[in-house]
Amino acid sequence: MERITVVGAGNVGATCANVIAHKDLANEIVLVDIKEGVAEGKALDIWQTSAINNFDTRVVGVTNDYLRTKGSGIVVITSGLPRKPGMSRDDLIRTNAKIIVEVTENVIKYSPEAIIIVVSNPLDVMTYAAWKTSNKPSRKVFGMAGILDTGRYTAFLADALDVSPKDIHALLLGGHGDSMVPLRRYTSVKGIPITELLTKEQIDKIVDRTRKGGGELVNLMGTSAWYAPGAAAAQMVESIVDDQKRIFPVCARLTGQYGINDLYIGVPVKLGKNGIEEIFELNLNDKEYRLLHESAEHVKSVVKVLDDMSLFPH
Ligand code: LAC
Repeated sequence: MERITVVGAGNVGATCANVIAHKDLANEIVLVDIKEGVAEGKALDIWQTSAINNFDTRVVGVTNDYLRTKGSGIVVITSGLPRKPGMSRDDLIRTNAKIIVEVTENVIKYSPEAIIIVVSNPLDVMTYAAWKTSNKPSRKVFGMAGILDTGRYTAFLADALDVSPKDIHALLLGGHGDSMVPLRRYTSVKGIPITELLTKEQIDKIVDRTRKGGGELVNLMGTSAWYAPGAAAAQMVESIVDDQKRIFPVCARLTGQYGINDLYIGVPVKLGKNGIEEIFELNLNDKEYRLLHESAEHVKSVVKVLDDMSLFPH
């Protein structure tokens, strides 16, 4: 791909750009930030690892210069404030919604064809805000959360089982918040269901820790995580650029699937060169269905706050 843009050169954006560069997925990555010098500096730092880490992707940083992002094939939006201890992701909505709308307007002005991946919180609602602003088909506007949340779930399972995380296949549904739904029935180790390897109590604990996984890190560091969020967004970019058609939980717009309409929420999808190429609808049992719908109700309540802000031109 000729050009990929990452908006926001904070910890998540810079990490994402760094991982994309390492994977050599584009001729050029443009890192954009509003703070003079930050994107320029981080981009230069990443570019100076090219000889050490053996990649060719040029990395450039700019301050709010969207003209420089022109014609990007993919734009990853990480702008906005991260949470501090004691905050929920939803507490960020008022500040971050305005930022996401403005950033999306700038992005589509210069890259009308771009696939947009949203990473900013509150994730499900910011993805909806970007989609609404962009006026694009929803298969080209979606959000990163499921890969991150599954990554956490997998890491905790690998610790509990003392096995390689590479052999664990896990899946989860729902919003990127404490109401997310890790699916134990769809989680296995080299094909062995985890229910055969761990007790219900052990799995309950891991599911609970996964749900609160972002908060655990905020409490440890005083700000939110970046290595796993940045790498997760880069993995989505890779599946699109290389048309891998990999299946990941992604924040996607549902239009009736799972009995949910007109809402962005995490579900398994196929990611290829066209963006979301398929949304998979699982045969949920009653409990899974109920948990997903509880999560959807929660996301809807935050969407309502956004809609009441009247930010959209159409
Ligand atoms: C997290 C933030 C990025 O879960 O939402 O770490």
